[in-house]
Amino acid sequence: MKIAIVGSGKVGAAIGYTAMLKGLAHEIVMVDAARDKAHGEALDMLQCLAFAPPARIRHGEMADTAGADIVVITAGIPRKADEPRVLLLSRNAALIADLVRQAVHYSPNCIIFMVTNPLDVMTQLAYQVSGLPANRVIGMGTVLDTARYRSYLAVAFDADARDIDAYVVGEHGETMVCLTSQITVRGVPLTALPGYDQAKLAPIIENVVQASSQVIALKGGTVFAPATAACAVLEAIVRDSRAVLPVCTYNPQYGVALSLPTIVGRGGAGPVLPLALTAAEQEQLAASVANIKKYVKEMEQ
Ligand code: 2OP
Repeated sequence: MKIAIVGSGKVGAAIGYTAMLKGLAHEIVMVDAARDKAHGEALDMLQCLAFAPPARIRHGEMADTAGADIVVITAGIPRKADEPRVLLLSRNAALIADLVRQAVHYSPNCIIFMVTNPLDVMTQLAYQVSGLPANRVIGMGTVLDTARYRSYLAVAFDADARDIDAYVVGEHGETMVCLTSQITVRGVPLTALPGYDQAKLAPIIENVVQASSQVIALKGGTVFAPATAACAVLEAIVRDSRAVLPVCTYNPQYGVALSLPTIVGRGGAGPVLPLALTAAEQEQLAASVANIKKYVKEMEQ
């Protein structure tokens, strides 16, 4: 298993480091336009090997990604706290299209894993320019927002976040949809938990939507949460675990890339699982899809 990480900024480096500690690859290649940055991150990681699962840790150019099983793309300009993710569209589209073409040129059998924002549009772009089937072009999508939702629910209701089944779907952006109708804790409805209080849900959802802005304002960028969420997806692919994760993929039914609960394994993402949504949730999801489509149109102009 060879994983190439294109973009060795804070998130790319944290993904590489976490993937190494988890033993997800026999080879990890760090790439960055600033070659010294990729070199430094690779060296820092390599110096952990006495305490980590064996792996070849390298840095290089796009050509050094050749033969990768998974190409993780984190390159691009990150957003500031007061900027919506979509502002990055014009800044990142040309760069991402070029990197995706190169990635597929060097690794025609790879899975592309998109982390760059605006996530849904970049995933759609990667799908369009890569020529790969949709199941092999996967965006981190609302896996990250879902993790935040579960974490905040766990804190508010004093539960184990890993036991909570609650999804965020739609756009990884302002219109993300935090589903409330089917939250369960190990199969038990959240409403049955001692201390359940419906009034706590609205502020939790507000916090999930604002989660990254809060962290960006406080420490300059989100790092651990995106890296951990990214590695959860990488792990599902590498170990062929068939985990259900709300990754972002191009969805022919909606005609756009969006996040919905999806089975993830060695072959990539799919199938997407059906959700029993309330009428209100369906409406929110439709609005989220319309928003992504609007951004895709803007990108294509
Ligand atoms: C996040 O949600 C910035 O999209 C990134 O942390």
